[in-house]
Amino acid sequence: MHGSPFLTHLSLHHDRVQPDQHPFTIPLIENGLSLSFTTPVTFLVGENGSGKSTVLEALAWATGFGMYGGSRDHQFVSGDEGHALGRALQLTWRQRVTDGFFLRAETFHQFSSHLIDLESTFARYGGRSLHEQSHGEAFLSLFENRFEDGLYILDEPEAALSPQRQLAFMQILHSLAGQGIAQFIIATHSPMLLCLPGARVLELEDGNVTEVSYRETEHYRLSRDFLNDPDRYLRHLLADDAS
Ligand SMILES: Nc1ncnc2c1ncn2[C@@H]1O[C@H](COP(=O)(O)OP(=O)(O)OP(=O)(O)O)[C@@H](O)[C@H]1O
Ligand SMILES: [Mg+2]
Repeated sequence: MHGSPFLTHLSLHHDRVQPDQHPFTIPLIENGLSLSFTTPVTFLVGENGSGKSTVLEALAWATGFGMYGGSRDHQFVSGDEGHALGRALQLTWRQRVTDGFFLRAETFHQFSSHLIDLESTFARYGGRSLHEQSHGEAFLSLFENRFEDGLYILDEPEAALSPQRQLAFMQILHSLAGQGIAQFIIATHSPMLLCLPGARVLELEDGNVTEVSYRETEHYRLSRDFLNDPDRYLRHLLADDAS
């Protein structure tokens, strides 16, 4: 995977931090949030509640992509009422880009409803209303038709995708990132996505950020061990119920 990322660093303007107020009390942020991006695809991985969505939303706000999904020309929720963390972010760019996309898996249906009102844009999504496609089909259709150049901030894109479609999604990521025209920052729990060659994995744990190989992540190890022998795993896990 070639190419340099457009956004290279994310940190905090310390004078804009509001101590003792959410979300500044999340350990990741309280510890002085600092993320560097050195590859076209960066995965953020960490336990539920570690702060991934909070950081991605703030980043989307700070880049102007809107809080709830959509690209600049599809901002169906402004989210401009104020985003304390978004305002406190300090972004360093190698090259400032204005094209991009922020997508939360859970708001995807809202987003596709919004697109129904914008008939002229259908051609960009495969010429077929996203509502006539299943969740996963629509998601992949968006990836295939809309993703070109720019910065893409994705929160758990795997939520809509079967394992087979996760592989198709990885092909798209590989192709766009390899052309050096797109940067992806992706929060994920998918052990499959984490395996993308050339991607960097940042693990968020106890408020610290560590660069790891996908093999070192809990997500990968637990999924591998479980799938290698589900019966053995579950025998231990469900032992109390069985007795
Ligand atoms: N309005 C709020 N007030 C206080 N704490 C909140 C509020 N909203 C979220 N939190 C807390 O912020 C923390 C970070 O949440 P966030 O959604 O960013 O986690 P996440 O890493 O995306 O988790 P997941 O993997 O489950 O999506 C959580 O502990 C959550 O309980
Ligand atoms: Mg989340």
